[in-house]
Amino acid sequence: MLHDLARLYPEERLLAECAQRGMPVNDYERAYPLVLHARVGAELATEMFGVQDPEILSAIRKHTLGDAQMSPLDCIVYVADTAEPGRTFPQRASLESLVMRDLTEATRVALELAIEHYQKKGLAAAPQTLAALQALGAAEALTGEVSDRSA
Ligand SMILES: [Fe+2]
Repeated sequence: MLHDLARLYPEERLLAECAQRGMPVNDYERAYPLVLHARVGAELATEMFGVQDPEILSAIRKHTLGDAQMSPLDCIVYVADTAEPGRTFPQRASLESLVMRDLTEATRVALELAIEHYQKKGLAAAPQTLAALQALGAAEALTGEVSDRSA
């Protein structure tokens, strides 16, 4: 219920909210400020509702782009946001089914779907999303890079 607290803020306000709090904004976030609603939303959860639980704040913070380090709760919120019934992409129902069996695999699929969605819109993938996939061992498939796992 808290993850989208800042979702309706215009992009200029999201950037201003970050600046007011001294929150760093990377190049991707500056190019696509809408994604900042996750990080700003975590701040609002604390400021407006007193949420202090770092696991809840992490899940709010990471629900748009993912992160190199995702807890099970981070993954649950990320996949739930991706596969919620209001979404209309063709793989939604299969993703909802998958998450009941394999949270890690569902997170990987959700991250890949996000990157495909960005690509169709002509957008690059966020570094956080690529890092999340890499952490799940799937980055090679997307980037075409081959890593030496024996090293
Ligand atoms: Fe959101």
